[in-house]
Amino acid sequence: MGAGAGAEAARQVRDTFAELYGGAPQGVWAAPGRVNLIGEHTDYNDGFVMPFALPHVTTAALARRDDGVLRLHSADVPGGPVELRVEDLAPQSDTNWTAYPAGVVWALREAGHPVTGADVHLTSTVPSGAGLSSSAALEVVVALALNDLFGLGIEGRQLARLCQRAENVYVGAPTGIMDQTASACCTDGHALFLDTRDLAQRQIPFDLAREGLRLLVVDTRVQHAHSDGEYGKRRAGCEKGAALLGVDALRDVAYAGLDAALARLGDEAEVRRLVRHIVTENERVERVVSLLESAGPRAIGPVLTEGHASLRDDFRISCPELDLAVDTALSSGALGARMTGGGFGGSAIVLAEESDVPSLTEAIEAAFATAGHTAPRVFEAVPSAGARRIA
Ligand code: GLA
Repeated sequence: MGAGAGAEAARQVRDTFAELYGGAPQGVWAAPGRVNLIGEHTDYNDGFVMPFALPHVTTAALARRDDGVLRLHSADVPGGPVELRVEDLAPQSDTNWTAYPAGVVWALREAGHPVTGADVHLTSTVPSGAGLSSSAALEVVVALALNDLFGLGIEGRQLARLCQRAENVYVGAPTGIMDQTASACCTDGHALFLDTRDLAQRQIPFDLAREGLRLLVVDTRVQHAHSDGEYGKRRAGCEKGAALLGVDALRDVAYAGLDAALARLGDEAEVRRLVRHIVTENERVERVVSLLESAGPRAIGPVLTEGHASLRDDFRISCPELDLAVDTALSSGALGARMTGGGFGGSAIVLAEESDVPSLTEAIEAAFATAGHTAPRVFEAVPSAGARRIA
């Protein structure tokens, strides 16, 4: 989104806020969705991830209140504002979209921050249920706005942790820390190399256009939800693996020690597969970082594709639509392709030469039509800015 488009979005959101609440907001904030380049399901294993922010954002206009009332409105949901009292907020009391922003208010208050209410109007260009972190964008934009309005002085990483707590405890989805950190901390033109154990970060330049390359996102339109059982089952399986191996987290199993670790797991076939994915995936993240620094982005294609095979065969979280997107992209000349995000639907990413984009897009659309799948949404992803105040 260019500066002009951002200013126009901010103006619209201010106008709607004024119509809804009868006064001007005190500011407008934006937080992006993300794609993950590599490092899937490693975050709740204390491992490495490498997301970058999308140009798609959730935008929030807010005004603070001091009377304990929280009013929430989304342009994407019919009806007027939902009114809550901050003192009544309780984990897992809400199964609607409002659980995400309300959960952030709850998490801030529970951490001792004096958030006494707000009027909130939200609008979003992040596709929801597409594995592109629309939930994290929603959490982070509200957290950042409240941080500014109440002068809380919380820095990006800590804000991400509070948002994760909102999602884990208040919403009840057992997700890791990647998405919130990506939304809060990514920078324009970079992928974020993040160690999820201590949130140490390095911004890795990722300028595909300069190399004549493009990264496509293929949203399969297969909806997923992390509060359902499968994500939690993978997480529990990884924790079981760590316990059986006597480590704090699977991050602590070295790549060089993988065969020995697998041998120790004996006939725990499922746990062995999960462990193999996590340990090899951490190695892939490190390999991608070193290839980007030594050889440039063209070289990372095969590593992305390896990552997909591991998610499909070992972690078992792909689906026919994701596999079709990846296989079609690869047989039509892509440099690499993989599913991205939590899995069971959502999106794939495709690394391609700029000149191959039209034929690749056509091939993927045709393959989906032939298979009788819903038409996918294919778009280019440019590494963009993290959460910020825009007005
Ligand atoms: C979802 C979760 C993240 C992460 C990914 C998989 O996006 O929110 O924490 O676990 O799945 O890498």
